[in-house]
Amino acid sequence: MIVTQNAEMICENLKRNESGELCFAGLALSPLAKKYGTPLYLYDEERIRHNCRTYLNAVREGFGESARVMYASKAASFKRLYEIVKEEGLGVDVVSCGEIYTASLAGFPLENSYFHSNNKTDSDIEFAISKGVGYFVVDNAEELFAIEEIAEKQGIKQKIMIRITPGIDPHTYAAVATGRVDSKFGSAIETGQAESITALALTFPHLELCGFHCHVGSQIFDAEVYLATSRVMLSFAADMERKLGFITRDLDIGGGLGVRYIKEQPVLDIKETILTVAKEMKAIATELGISLPRISLEPGRSIVADAGLTLYTVGTVKRIPGYKSYVSVDGGMTDNPRFALYGSPYTILPVLGEVGEDSEPCSVVGRCCESGDILQENVPMKADVKRGDLLACLTTGAYHYSMASNYNRIPRPPVVMLGDGESYLAVKRETIEDIVRLDV
Ligand code: LLP
Repeated sequence: MIVTQNAEMICENLKRNESGELCFAGLALSPLAKKYGTPLYLYDEERIRHNCRTYLNAVREGFGESARVMYASKAASFKRLYEIVKEEGLGVDVVSCGEIYTASLAGFPLENSYFHSNNKTDSDIEFAISKGVGYFVVDNAEELFAIEEIAEKQGIKQKIMIRITPGIDPHTYAAVATGRVDSKFGSAIETGQAESITALALTFPHLELCGFHCHVGSQIFDAEVYLATSRVMLSFAADMERKLGFITRDLDIGGGLGVRYIKEQPVLDIKETILTVAKEMKAIATELGISLPRISLEPGRSIVADAGLTLYTVGTVKRIPGYKSYVSVDGGMTDNPRFALYGSPYTILPVLGEVGEDSEPCSVVGRCCESGDILQENVPMKADVKRGDLLACLTTGAYHYSMASNYNRIPRPPVVMLGDGESYLAVKRETIEDIVRLDV
């Protein structure tokens, strides 16, 4: 039975039972480690569904029934996830042939997808068209010519949206900020390129321009960022209507809502944020004298992050007197590169027993031959932490499995789903034989 919830329990689906063991999605973690081995990615299926429904209900309430939520599947992409997202009635944002192919294997209706990327190759374009991708989000003018040519050859008219760089700085970490004028993504309003690509798109017979898209960044907690973005995008739409007679049917304002990795971070109210943005967008559209286009959002992280948890087994514990202590685990930057890349904060907890007064701060590190292979610094650790103990790293559902690598030829962990008090495999554990499979 699940009994306690203390301050470290940063997500609702995490509890300790009466024997002090951590439980995720209602299941104790040690038996899962025993059954599937570690490192292990776990996903709480109900939480993914809950997050999908929160978004869908909020956009429908705020923007009307036609509004759409396109799950940004770069956050986590595997067949089972596309099936769940499909069952929940969301569309998807895909960025590569690999994501398109995975979604198609899951039976995802690809007419309900947006294909992104700042550099789609001709073969990407051909593949996406052959799979019936609904909309291409066109990044630049060159790409327009390429899609037109391939659409003409295939005898189709391809729906497109144009990715606009609105010139908004989301004040998040630099690697994920994409809305600034100097971004590698999209065509900027400030430079006039957004207008010229719109005018150009309207001249192509095999392209159907439906509207505009933007995404300004990720891990954003401030609704103001979306309000400012909406104002810029709607003003641009009004401008295009006035100058080119083009009426924007679809407008996507991207993803990026922040999630809680550590207790010092807030829990963002998704519904409230969306309703605030919707109210403001309606007012802005009225002020500009245009009708509000059909709105779509593209969340990735906030759909899957808090549905994920990674389990590790402790190996070497090294204390360097007068310096620091290291707790090494059987995973690391290969299954979670986010600290190495962005210095991202995480909550790491022992699976058995809570951290007491006598805790010592340790660096939790991986097993790669690289000093930067760190999962987190200054993690409070039980004084008697030892080889064989289990550790849980929380909020690992987004950009973990999808960013995992085989550095040092380390196989990637399996993905196990938890639902209705049961567990099942969604992605098998990679083996060393899998790793050499392509070597000739
Ligand atoms: N739409 C577009 C066009 C995007 O580029 C992204 C994320 C999203 C939607 C979804 O954003 P989200 O809701 O997940 O914040 N690897 C980094 C995150 C990179 C985000 C890339 N684009 C990380 O681990 O923090």
